[in-house]
Amino acid sequence: MSKTLIAYGTRFGATAKSSEVIARELKEKFNHEVEVVKLSSETENVDLSSFDNVIVGSSLAKFSWTKRAKKFLKNDFSGKKLFVFISSAGITYPALEKGEMEKYEKWKGRFLDKVVKKNANIEPTLTAVFGGWIENRGKPGTYSTHNWKEEDMVKWAEEIGKLTS
Ligand SMILES: Cc1cc2nc3c(=O)[nH]c(=O)nc-3n(C[C@H](O)[C@H](O)[C@H](O)COP(=O)(O)O)c2cc1C
Repeated sequence: MSKTLIAYGTRFGATAKSSEVIARELKEKFNHEVEVVKLSSETENVDLSSFDNVIVGSSLAKFSWTKRAKKFLKNDFSGKKLFVFISSAGITYPALEKGEMEKYEKWKGRFLDKVVKKNANIEPTLTAVFGGWIENRGKPGTYSTHNWKEEDMVKWAEEIGKLTS
C-alpha cells in the first residue's frame, strides 16, 4: 500500500479544500494511506521517512507561496515521489481556463516550476495549477472570483494514483 503525505499552506482555504479532495480520491480509488497536514509552526517538521509520496500544495497570493509551504519544499525527498500544486485563482488558472497556453506556461513557470526548482532536491513527478476564490470585501459569502473546481483535483489525483500504485 502506498503511503502519501499531503502538506499544504493556505490563506483563504482553497488549498485546504483541494488537499482534502485529493486525499479522498487517493484513499477511495487507489487505497493509499493518506495523511493531510496543514503546515504551521508545530507541523513543519513532519517525519517524512515512512512516506512513499509527498504532495505539496500552496496558496498563491501577491505573487507568492505561503512561507511555510516554500520552506517545506527544502526537505529531503530523495527516494520518494514528489507532486506539487498551487492555487492561483487570479492569474495562472484563468489563463488555463481561457486556453491562453502561452500565458499559462509563462505564469506556471514563474509561480510554480521556478519555485520548485529553486527549493526542492528532486524533480516533481507531476505538477498542477488549480483555481480558488477571492471574497468580496465587506460582503462575506460573495466572490469577485470563484474558479475552484473539484473535478480538477479528482482528475489530478487519478493521474497520481496511476503513477504510484
Ligand atoms: C490579497 C490577494 C492577493 C492575491 N494575489 C494573487 C496572485 O498574485 N496571483 C494569483 O494567481 N492569485 C492571487 N490571488 C487569488 C488566490 O490565488 C486565491 O485567493 C486562492 O484561493 C488562494 O489560495 P488559498 O485559498 O488556499 O489561500 C490573490 C487573492 C488575494 C485575496
